[in-house]
Amino acid sequence: MSYLLLLFLPLLVNAKLKRTTLYIPLVHNGVNVFDTKVISPPVVSPPNTQGKAVMAEIYFGSPPVKQVLHLDTGSSLTWVQCFPCSRCFDQNRLPKYWPKKSKTYREPMCESEDGKCRYELIYLDKCVVKGIHAQELVTVDTLDGGYERLYGVRFGCTEHSEGTSFIGTGILGLGAGMSSIIGEFDYKFSFCLGRISDKRSNHNLIFGDGANIQGHPTVINITNDHYYFSLESIIVERKIRLDHPVQVLVDTGSTMSYVSPGLYYNFVDEFEEIIGRPSSYRPNLCYKAEDIEQLYTFDVGFEFAGGAQLSVNVHNIFLPTGPPGDLCLAIINNENSFSDIIIGVTAMQGHNLGYHLRRKTVYLQKQNCNKSKL
Ligand SMILES: *[C@@H]1O[C@H](CO)[C@@H](O)[C@H](O)[C@H]1NC(C)=O
Ligand SMILES: *[C@@H]1O[C@H](CO)[C@@H](O)[C@H](O)[C@H]1NC(C)=O
Repeated sequence: MSYLLLLFLPLLVNAKLKRTTLYIPLVHNGVNVFDTKVISPPVVSPPNTQGKAVMAEIYFGSPPVKQVLHLDTGSSLTWVQCFPCSRCFDQNRLPKYWPKKSKTYREPMCESEDGKCRYELIYLDKCVVKGIHAQELVTVDTLDGGYERLYGVRFGCTEHSEGTSFIGTGILGLGAGMSSIIGEFDYKFSFCLGRISDKRSNHNLIFGDGANIQGHPTVINITNDHYYFSLESIIVERKIRLDHPVQVLVDTGSTMSYVSPGLYYNFVDEFEEIIGRPSSYRPNLCYKAEDIEQLYTFDVGFEFAGGAQLSVNVHNIFLPTGPPGDLCLAIINNENSFSDIIIGVTAMQGHNLGYHLRRKTVYLQKQNCNKSKL
C-alpha cells in the first residue's frame, strides 16, 4: 500500500516549530568529545522497505529501546514515534518507545498553554507529524563493538502522524537545522551505501571525528537547512555538460531522483540512443527487464562543481517500479510537483559521502562499503 508513496520522500518543506521560547534544561548539551570511540550505528535496508531506504539502529531511553530510523539528509529533526500516540503509523513489529517507561525522558518548558514545546512538520510528500520536543538518553554503537551514551539529546516525540510513507520507527534528521543531531558531533558525519536492494550488502554511518571525510570535494550551499550541491553535468555513459550549473538537493530521504523536464529529456535521449525505444516514458523510463539485463555496463549519474561525482552502474539504477516484467529508471521527470531537483538514495549506491559542514564541503568517493569497516 505504501509502495508508491515510498517513492516520494520525507523531505521537509515547511517546519512550523510551534514554539515561542524554548528553555533547554541545563544539561550537558555541547559538542561531545570522543577520544577513541567511533560512533557508528548499524545501518540496514530492512526487507519491508524493499530496498528503497537505509535505516540506522539507535537506542532511545533507559532501559534502551531499539529504534530504526530512516536516514534523511533532507530534514533536521530526529524523531521517533512515541506511544501511546493519538495516531501512529504501523511499525511492523519494531520495538515501541514509551516515554513514560523511560527514566531519562525529559521535556523542556515552553511559553505555551500546557508548557510543552510542540512541533508540526509537513514533508514534501504531504505526510505530517506532530509531537513534542523532548530530550533523551541515546545509546549508539561504536565501531569497536561497544557503545556510547549521549545524554540529553534533543529529539521529537511524535504523537500523531498522517501519511503512509513512513517506515521504521521514525526519522534520523541529518539536515543542517538547529535541532539536528549532527550538532552533537561537530557537524561532521559520513555514510557509505552499498547496494540497497541487496540484503547482504553493507552500509555505514559515522558521526563526528571518526567520519570518513575523504574523496573528491565539492562545495555545498546551505539554504533553509538544506544541502544544495551545484550540478554541472549529467552522466549517461558519457558526460553531458549543462549550460548552467543548477542547485540540487542530495537527499537520502528520497528513493528516486527528481529532475526538471529539460534534464530528464537528456537522460531519455541518451538511453534511447543506447537501448532503443522504452516501453513507457512517464513519469520515468521503463524497459523490458531483459533489455536492461543484457545491457553492457556503463555509468549513470551526476557531476558536481569541482568534478565530484555520484554515478552508479546502469544495472543498479533501474528498479521494478513499473508494470510486471519491466525495470524503470530511478530518475523521474518532475514536471509539476516541486521546484527543486532532488538526487535520491539510488544514485548514491556504492559511494561514501563525507560531510564537513564547517568547511561547507562534501567529499564524494566510490567505495565498497563492505571494506570500509575499520
Ligand atoms: C558486499 O558483500 C555482500 C555479501 O557478501 C555481497 O553480496 C555484495 O555483492 C558485496 N558488495 C560489493 C560491492 O562487493
Ligand atoms: C543556494 O541555493 C539556493 C536554493 O537553490 C539558491 O536560491 C541560492 O542562490 C544558492 N546560493 C548560492 C551562493 O549558490
